[in-house]
Amino acid sequence: MEEKQWIEDVAEKIRHKMILVACRNRHNIPYSTLNGRFDDCSGEKITWWTNGFWGGMMWQMYQATGNELYHEIAVENEKMLDANLMMAGGLNHDNGFKWLPTSVANYRKTGNEESCNRGMLAADNLAGRFNLAGAFIRAWNDAGDGKKAGWVIIDSMMNLPLLYWASETTHDPRYRQIAERHADKVQEYFIRPDGSACHIVEFDPETGAFMKSHGGQGYGEGSAWTRGQAWAVYGFVLSYLHTNRKSYLETAKHTADYFIENIPESGLIPVDFRQPGTCTWEDSSAAAIAACGFLQLAQVLKDKEALKYHREAVRLLKILDKKRCNWKEEEDNLLEKCTAKYHSDRHEFAIIYGDYYFIEAIWKLTGQELFIW
Ligand code: GLY
Repeated sequence: MEEKQWIEDVAEKIRHKMILVACRNRHNIPYSTLNGRFDDCSGEKITWWTNGFWGGMMWQMYQATGNELYHEIAVENEKMLDANLMMAGGLNHDNGFKWLPTSVANYRKTGNEESCNRGMLAADNLAGRFNLAGAFIRAWNDAGDGKKAGWVIIDSMMNLPLLYWASETTHDPRYRQIAERHADKVQEYFIRPDGSACHIVEFDPETGAFMKSHGGQGYGEGSAWTRGQAWAVYGFVLSYLHTNRKSYLETAKHTADYFIENIPESGLIPVDFRQPGTCTWEDSSAAAIAACGFLQLAQVLKDKEALKYHREAVRLLKILDKKRCNWKEEEDNLLEKCTAKYHSDRHEFAIIYGDYYFIEAIWKLTGQELFIW
C-alpha cells in the first residue's frame, strides 16, 4: 500500500477507536488494562510516573480533531496531578513525563497561565535535583537514606525538555544550562562506542566520581535495553532541537544507528537487544518511541539521511499497525506486548506510553502533532 494511503488509514483507525476509549475513561488516568479495559492510577497512585501520558493522548487527539471532549479530559488529568505537585516525595526526574504532556501542552495550546505555573513548579523542582559535584540530575528518590542520591538514568533525557521550555518561557538560561550539563554527562558515561546505551549509572553524590553502571530495566549490566535506547535517540535529538548543539545530533544519530542495526528481521522489538536468544519477550513501546525519535531526526536532517530515518520509522510503525495494534472497539489499548522491565513477573501487556508515542508518531506523519517536548 502507498505510504500516504497507509498513514491516512491508520490515522482514521486511531480517530475511530480513541473517541470510544475517551468516552469510557473520562475520569481515569490509565496505565494498563485488565480484560481489555483501562485501569486507573488517579487517587492513591497519583504520583505514578506515567500519569501524564493519558493527558498527552487527549491533547494530541484534541489537536487533530478539535473535539472538546478530549480537551475536557486533558484538563481533568492535569488538575488531578495537582495532588502530586504538593507531594515532595512524589516528585522526581520524571516531572517532565508528567507535566510536559499535561500542563505545558495546555499552556502551549491555550496560553493558560495556571498551566504555565504548574509547569514552572515542576521545572523548578527538576532543576533542584541537579548535583553540583557531579553535574547530573538525580533520577529517583530513596527512603531518605541517600542510597540513590547518585543514580542517573537514560530516561532522564526525555525530561530535559521541561527545563528547555522553562528557559524559553522565562528567558532565564539557568534551566537550559542545567539540562545541557546533564546531557553532557549522559553523553560521556551512558553512550558506549558502539552506540548502545546503558540504563543506570551510579555516581558518588559527594565527589561526582563514576562508581558503576547497572542493567536497570534491561537484561543486565552491559546490555542494551531497547526502550532506554529509544529514550536516548529521541532525548538527544530533542536536546539538539532546543540547543542547536551539533554533538547532541551526532549522539542521536549514533544511538539511532545502533537501534536500526539491531532490529530483528521480524521488525518486532525485543525488551533488550542483548537478551538471550531463547527469550522472545517484546516491548512494542520501544518501537513507538524509537519511531518518534527517528521521525524527529528526519525532520532536522536533509536528503538521504532524513530519508533513511523516515523509512525506518515507517517500517516500525507499519509492523506495529499490522501485528501489534489492537483495533478492537470494545478494548481500550492500542498497543499490545509492551514490557516495563525485563526482570519482572509481568511481560508483554498494554502500557499507556506505548499508546501515547504511537499516536504521536502517526501524527508526526499526518502533520497533526501538538509539539509536547
Ligand atoms: N522509567 C521509564 C521507563 O520505564 O521507560
